[in-house]
Amino acid sequence: MSLPTSLAAPAAESVRDFATDVRRDLALVPKQIQSKYLYDGLGSTLFEAICRLPWYRITRAEARLLSTFAPQIVSAFSEPLTLVELGCGSGEKLAMLAEVLRARRRHVAVHLIDISPVALELSERTLGRLQHVSVVGHRATYEEGLRHAAAQRVGDSAMLVLFLGSNLGNFDPPAAHDFLSRIRGSLRAGDALLLGADLVKPESDLLLAYDDPLGVTAAFNKNLLVRMNSELLADFDLELFDHRAVWNARESRVEMHLVSRADQVVSIPRAETSVRFAPGEPIWTESSYKYTPEDVIQRGRLAGFLSLDQWVDSRARFALTLFSAD
Ligand code: AVI
Repeated sequence: MSLPTSLAAPAAESVRDFATDVRRDLALVPKQIQSKYLYDGLGSTLFEAICRLPWYRITRAEARLLSTFAPQIVSAFSEPLTLVELGCGSGEKLAMLAEVLRARRRHVAVHLIDISPVALELSERTLGRLQHVSVVGHRATYEEGLRHAAAQRVGDSAMLVLFLGSNLGNFDPPAAHDFLSRIRGSLRAGDALLLGADLVKPESDLLLAYDDPLGVTAAFNKNLLVRMNSELLADFDLELFDHRAVWNARESRVEMHLVSRADQVVSIPRAETSVRFAPGEPIWTESSYKYTPEDVIQRGRLAGFLSLDQWVDSRARFALTLFSAD
């Protein structure tokens, strides 16, 4: 009997990459771990839970905007339409757009791109229920997956790429620019990008979203230590690290850190290293950039897009922006 992919052990090569990155990034000042490593099976499940927390409003705000404006978004395209979601989460947001197309009796080809098998499984299940939708999942990086999706598009169908959930906010500004430019480079006239971006809001709201009273975000962050213990045979003591979220107003980003409570040395055998932590010393594990609505439009333009429309949820301060590749 084989285990579902979400429960299987990680492949040896991905453990090797993790070990190499951890060895390099824990030698930096400040110490870092790339945020992509937050999303193993448990991490992805904890992130799903975060999206349901009352203090983390991104997911619901975006869903509200999509359910209100899906007809308007979809009507900007002629048939046939290919929907591509980068980082597909649970597939529910994509399903909202697909539902509108069902009402118009239109068949939709959907491509889901994610490195997390959990996210792909979940989305494929959500979308598989819709009869007018054909779904292809790509377990790949966004760029790789987008290349595959573009290669499989049917005839002259337009492609609408969704990059939702403010995932762009986890890239630093130069990487965000490169990423948007590469997406633009793989699209052609008639294609479009729908970008979800979280907006700047009061610091107290941001800190509640990234350091919630239930401790789910703390568990999401500390799971990096659990992951290093199980995959790299490290001996991190979870009691000796605290989750911390801070608003860096100058850089317009929320940062997550894991802060050492003590002077300690942690051994990480598979990364062939031991790391010393001073009391209060952080590991920087994630940045979540927050934007103004104009900022989002400007970033799209700099990457070669034309902004077509923008919808803002003023309650949660969240924006959906539709860009065309014309
Ligand atoms: C996936 N990403 C957009 C989330 C964010 O808000 O930056 C990840 C997250 N980190 C802590 N809570 C949620």
